[in-house]
Amino acid sequence: MSMPAESAPAFEARAIIADLRAGVPPKPGALDWFARGLASGEVSDAQAGAFAMAICLNGLADTGRLALTRAMQNSGMQLEWDLPGPVLDKHSTGGIGDCVSLLLAPALAACGAYVPMISGRGLGFTGGTLDKLESIPGLRTDVTPGQLRDQLARTRCAIIAASKQIAPADRRLYAIRDVTSTVDSIDLITASILSKKLAAGLEGLVLDVKCGSGAFMKTEAEARVLAQALVATAQGAGCMTTALITDMSQPLANAAGNALEVIAVMETLTGMSVDPSLWDLTAALGGEALALGGLASDAADGAARIEQALESGAAAEYFGRMIAAQGGPADFVDRWPDRLPAAPVMIDFPSPLNGFITAIDTEALGNIVVHLGGGRLRETDRINPSVGLSDLVGLGQAVEPGQPLARVHAATQAQADAALKQLAAAYTIGESAAEEPPLILGKIT
Ligand code: URA
Repeated sequence: MSMPAESAPAFEARAIIADLRAGVPPKPGALDWFARGLASGEVSDAQAGAFAMAICLNGLADTGRLALTRAMQNSGMQLEWDLPGPVLDKHSTGGIGDCVSLLLAPALAACGAYVPMISGRGLGFTGGTLDKLESIPGLRTDVTPGQLRDQLARTRCAIIAASKQIAPADRRLYAIRDVTSTVDSIDLITASILSKKLAAGLEGLVLDVKCGSGAFMKTEAEARVLAQALVATAQGAGCMTTALITDMSQPLANAAGNALEVIAVMETLTGMSVDPSLWDLTAALGGEALALGGLASDAADGAARIEQALESGAAAEYFGRMIAAQGGPADFVDRWPDRLPAAPVMIDFPSPLNGFITAIDTEALGNIVVHLGGGRLRETDRINPSVGLSDLVGLGQAVEPGQPLARVHAATQAQADAALKQLAAAYTIGESAAEEPPLILGKIT
């Protein structure tokens, strides 16, 4: 008896990999099959590694990149919303002192949007929004899709981890890319980021693609290529998307470290001490998002609405509701200085010279925070939320010998001493002031 034709397997991992290796575009349906196989386990680790390497070496072209993104999006649950306002979100490619998400989610909510912000943990030398938020005692980020739905209806915004049901093909492939030197492919990065965002059922997405010494993309040209791929792919998948290319040649906030960045956020949210870069980037990204969602006539109108939400305290109110809904202290907005952990050792790093800050190795600052215990060297490491750097001086600033360039917050004196040594190599002091780069370098629509 012959097998019915339709029950023969339509695809086979080896054949898909062979096509990719030869630079032959994948057949229609092949990437869907592969993504399902990643999620179900039918595709082995070796096959997934070879698949990633073939894409890294040969690329997928626009059509293949979109097909892979959709395939990974469809490998798990799709969130669907029926809410009386647009569902919007922001994604940053990662940097140092980048705590914009914590300001932007409640500010967008205060302007009428719904924000199911599925965020990540620290990656390499960059900090992660979930790690920062979890420095707030009691706060949970692992909520089920049902809990997310309830929270969004009540508080309009949530910042949470991706559940296992969202884009499971990405979860598996990402872990394999991490150990097969296949992370830095525009196609794989695009499919990875967007599969999770598209599965969250967004109507509009704004992307912050960072470039400079503290970003994965070191040059503006590289950032532009990634931004173009992300925007074209997201729009091809039906999600209105705008990207800003932004500077990361110095830390965004003047602090780097989990609780220390929450302090910078709370100072800005409550008006106690506004960080101008945080404020400006939150307004610019939020303005784009509100324009995409039809809550502002254009990006400038949107930015003005975000600034109003920050100034009036409305964003702080939404932030407080979100924190309480996720298990944090109900009085956090009023009592945050008492609620956040503080490191036992605090020591200033003095400028060795007279002059101007001409360059900052921002990646090195991120690595100092990781080694202080504010990030992970191994997947299983526990984060110390209290450690990091604060009072960071920025590019172009005039400095005198002995003037603090940064304050180290450490768990032990030995760790603080090691950080002081590394800080000496991270700052370049010259005789004349270099021009400070603009915060926003470009926009891709
Ligand atoms: N963030 C992701 O989610 N995936 C990548 O590949 C890179 C950054």
